[in-house]
Amino acid sequence: MHIIQSSGHQLELGSILESSFQEKLHEFKDAKKILFADQHTSEACVSYLLSQFDELAEAEVIVIPAGEESKTVEIAENIWEVLSEYHVTRHDLLINVGGGMITDMGGFIASCYKRGIDFINIPTSLLGMVDASIGGKTGVNLGHFKNQVGVFSQPITVYIDPLFLSTLPEEEWMSGYAELLKHGLISDRSLYERVLVQMEEPMGLGIELLKDGIEVKNKIVILDPFEKGDRKKLNFGHTFGHVIEGFHMGRDGVSHGWAVAIGMVFESYLSYKRGLLEHTDYLRIESDFLVWYDIPSFSDEDIQQMVEWLINDKKNSSGKIQCCLLEEIGKCSYDHEISQNEAVEVFLHFKNQQINLN
Ligand SMILES: NC(=O)c1ccc[n+]([C@@H]2O[C@H](COP(=O)([O-])OP(=O)(O)OC[C@H]3O[C@@H](n4cnc5c(N)ncnc54)[C@H](O)[C@@H]3O)[C@@H](O)[C@H]2O)c1
Repeated sequence: MHIIQSSGHQLELGSILESSFQEKLHEFKDAKKILFADQHTSEACVSYLLSQFDELAEAEVIVIPAGEESKTVEIAENIWEVLSEYHVTRHDLLINVGGGMITDMGGFIASCYKRGIDFINIPTSLLGMVDASIGGKTGVNLGHFKNQVGVFSQPITVYIDPLFLSTLPEEEWMSGYAELLKHGLISDRSLYERVLVQMEEPMGLGIELLKDGIEVKNKIVILDPFEKGDRKKLNFGHTFGHVIEGFHMGRDGVSHGWAVAIGMVFESYLSYKRGLLEHTDYLRIESDFLVWYDIPSFSDEDIQQMVEWLINDKKNSSGKIQCCLLEEIGKCSYDHEISQNEAVEVFLHFKNQQINLN
């Protein structure tokens, strides 16, 4: 078992059967325990937990439809009502079992219900394990705007058991690898190279690479929990990525990781155009990424719409578009202001390389 200290709590990486989970359930033996999952993680992962932990025999299970479309204020409100119907109090426990959609939303639901109840994250997707379940960002989307409503709030423990990955669909592995590649690009060239090699055999991911990916995120969020400085580097690829994800939400299902992967290619291009990134490094990134992630389709009107959304991104200040840029593979800087014209130029450059998903 790898125990990793995070901000006031532990991340436990290894079999959940050998973790402190059972002990934790004992600590909450008189409390109500609510498992929160989507329909896929309920079938694949909640059923396993129920079969392994007698302490969960009386637990309630709340299941919502899978997918980013469920990450809404309306569904959060329905769940608060259900928690009320179950007479959940401040002393009870919410256990989030799922990918980033569930841990983001469950963390938000727990943090606002009765001004905050304890929650545990059990990430079940690769993306959730290396990124979303760590760092205390919780929230829901507002229309097409990603994570527009939320709070910083830490789980009491995160249990990361690679066993859950055995049922993860292949495309979701690639989504998780996008965030792992990001961890390499922003902080560690050798990690980037290792992730690329591993992607040739995606489902063979070993615990060491998983741990190294988790540690990149964890170290950054411990030093800057509220994103005043260095944590902004984790947003590399997300300025463009979030609008691409929001734009395709409910249409042709571009996953978060895929959208961020394309966002990283766009922001690497911008880094090169700004003279920050060597051309050779840019070409390397473009070719590495486009082997795995196709550019989704967009028309001239779509570009106009997406640039308007870029201005509304919550990472911006005073209506200016802000972006992280790469200086080399393994080094990133933040708070770069980009103009609308530059944003349009980036979209137009890639419009010709797009592949229609439909
Ligand atoms: N809080 C943060 O710091 C942070 C960071 C990155 C991403 N995010 C958020 O995370 C979300 C994306 O996370 P995601 O990629 O995990 O998406 P997701 O939670 O929607 O999961 C993707 C799909 O995989 C399925 N799935 C997950 N685990 C499974 C398993 N073990 N077996 C079978 N199916 C499984 C889900 O049911 C879903 O259909 C986005 O909402 C994004 O905004 C948050």
